[in-house]
Amino acid sequence: MNILVTGGAGYIGSHTCLQLLAAGHQVVVFDNLCNSQIESLNRIRKISEQHSISYEISFVKGDIRDEIALKNVFTTYKIDAVIHFAGLKAVAESSENPLYYYDNNVNGSVKLFSVMAEFNVKKIVFSSSATVYGGPHTEPITEDYPLKVANPYGRTKLMIEDILRDMYSADPSWRISILRYFNPIGAHESGLMGENPNGIPNNLLPYVAQVAVGRLAKLRIFGNDYDTPDGTGVRDYVHVMDLADGHVMALNYLFANLGLSTINLGTGMGYSVLDVVDAFAKACEKPINYEFLPRRAGDVDIYYADVSLAKTFLGWHAKRDLYTMCLDTWRWQSTNPNGY
Ligand code: NAD
Ligand code: WQD
Repeated sequence: MNILVTGGAGYIGSHTCLQLLAAGHQVVVFDNLCNSQIESLNRIRKISEQHSISYEISFVKGDIRDEIALKNVFTTYKIDAVIHFAGLKAVAESSENPLYYYDNNVNGSVKLFSVMAEFNVKKIVFSSSATVYGGPHTEPITEDYPLKVANPYGRTKLMIEDILRDMYSADPSWRISILRYFNPIGAHESGLMGENPNGIPNNLLPYVAQVAVGRLAKLRIFGNDYDTPDGTGVRDYVHVMDLADGHVMALNYLFANLGLSTINLGTGMGYSVLDVVDAFAKACEKPINYEFLPRRAGDVDIYYADVSLAKTFLGWHAKRDLYTMCLDTWRWQSTNPNGY
């Protein structure tokens, strides 16, 4: 099948493109490279060659808010389905510049869905986030948990979900898979592809990795007084290659089934910041320097996924453990200390 991957040069998108190729699909990547580098696609080519996977990726540099550019893609390629990753994702930046987030994420998605409808391409997998559940949560979160968002970024995800639900109510010939990721981390096992944040990372794993490689002096752990076993925040970290497989399985599901489904992608396990620090120290075979700081505004103490729907609907479960996530991140970071 011909799959259009918006945001395919980014972190989760690039790993998913590789797994799409491995599954025998042809891929069109549409990305404006505002938060990624074209080098990620060269790395996919390299890994594909190593594994005798046919590299069938076309790249189109473009913005999802540009309807003409989108229409050109649908005219040039016979697209069978879309995986929609393109979006901005920095929580603090979204609070500082909400209109930028609403325009890029929400307006861009509306443009994409409109062009899809015009070209009668009605199969879509959408990147949502566990951020739509708000918090705090002391038990595994099921997909029917009440939705509540705490910042403009989260609101863009919830708004796009609502738009997809409205589209489906109006026209049930759409096939829609909304995937709510928990905390994606890790890298391809080759060390050739991984997360490449701009500037100082906001998220835990890239920060820890940059401390380990010597780019940052010390991890700042935000809060050690949470109601968790060791006092630090607990999250459901999931390997990006498991997520990538989840997208291929969601696509298979869409081709075989009608309907709209909303599915958590996580491991179902909660790990604290200190668990992550310990696992990373084992993986990189050196201690990670850290200090405790007060809680970060907007953080919750604990959340992790109920993953039973992913198993029932997609036949998917996460296979890689926390140590593997850290080992793969370290292989990527230590061989690419400055990213791509
Ligand atoms: P990323 O920033 O690495 O990838 C997003 C890609 O989209 C980038 O390549 C960027 O250049 C592109 N993009 C952004 N706006 C665009 C636009 N207007 N037109 C075309 N391309 C555009 O982020 P990621 O971590 O790979 O996340 C992918 C998706 O998953 C995002 O929608 C994000 O909100 C969602 N998500 C991410 C996480 C996470 O922690 N990484 C968690 C839950 C959900
Ligand atoms: C994890 C834990 C921090 C950095 C964010 C978004 C969410 C989703 C995933 C997109 C927390 C602690 C972190 C640091 C720390 N993204 N931490 N020092 O906040 O769970 O989720 O990414 O949809 O929307 O909010 O992830 O990696 O930032 O934090 O102590 O330098 O690590 O307090 O307990 P988070 P994170």
